Amino acid sequence: MVQAYAPGKAIIFGEHAVVYGHPAVAVAINTGVKVTATLNSKWTVDDRQLNSSQHPHIKWLTENSSLNQPVRFRITSDLHPAAGQGSSAALSVASQIAIAKLSGLATDPVEVSKMAHMAEAAAQSGRASPTDTATSSLGGCVVVARELPKLATKVFDTHLETPEGKRSWTIGKMQVGETDEGTPHLVLGYTGNPSHTGKMVAMVADRITSDPLARENLDSIGEITSMGLLAIKSSAWDVVGMAMDACHQKLRALGLSTPMLEELITAVRPHSLGSKLTGAGGGGCMMALTNEPERVAQTIEMHGGKANVTPIISPGAVILGL
Ligand code: PMV
Repeated sequence: MVQAYAPGKAIIFGEHAVVYGHPAVAVAINTGVKVTATLNSKWTVDDRQLNSSQHPHIKWLTENSSLNQPVRFRITSDLHPAAGQGSSAALSVASQIAIAKLSGLATDPVEVSKMAHMAEAAAQSGRASPTDTATSSLGGCVVVARELPKLATKVFDTHLETPEGKRSWTIGKMQVGETDEGTPHLVLGYTGNPSHTGKMVAMVADRITSDPLARENLDSIGEITSMGLLAIKSSAWDVVGMAMDACHQKLRALGLSTPMLEELITAVRPHSLGSKLTGAGGGGCMMALTNEPERVAQTIEMHGGKANVTPIISPGAVILGL
């Protein structure tokens, strides 16, 4: 029996702009997915037959593994699905670790990340950025870009054949002074409404063709991300917060916010260094950077959201037991 845990993620800067080559910065969070895998006489997930419509990620990973005996999978998750928290990436990463371990193979975080990314792409009509899977597998603070900013340390290059052609990314890591005294926390606020990544990405693509300002907004997000990275590197948390606010203005101008996201983001501002939507938008989650995490969490709950306080970074995926 193998148990593997993989965390979810939150994008601090660069969602949507990353689709157009700009960098994105994401951190692993303190909630995630646990997969327990046991060799068995049948392929099952939570006591139901493994099938590609319900569990396309696990199905793809098993079909692309060297396992020669069926497996019983059990999944527990404390991530909200379709909320921009990377729940399908965390499921893919934890499943891949369990499958590799049961196959007697190494569970190198880079290889796990690449396999999980391919499983995500296969489940999403061939399109997926490696942001979620890399952050879940590697943990900490991850930077994804077509050309990695100098401030980040390169970990690996990756490619994907998409319906629109070959896409390439470099994945890097940023050192974060998380043990410094006074390091703020992140608080995620789930609106209770699902976020449809594919729909939101398509909406931005449409907007770019009809509105020249949309392209300018994406370029501005790229510039804000570069400034935000410098601020993270130097633990200038008030500047990180200002950059988050600025990033949100651009995401809002692109039509990605919702009344509930605006309500939560506005409500927490007096107690936050910065706040913004995180992930694809159109629902899903907002996030705040704050030195008053409990107060911000209470504010989110009072306004009808579901709050989760998480350190500025959390560790990546791990094997829990054999
Ligand atoms: O899956 P989400 O909600 O975390 O959004 C992913 C971020 C996007 O930039 C909108 C899409 C992508 O592939 O990078």
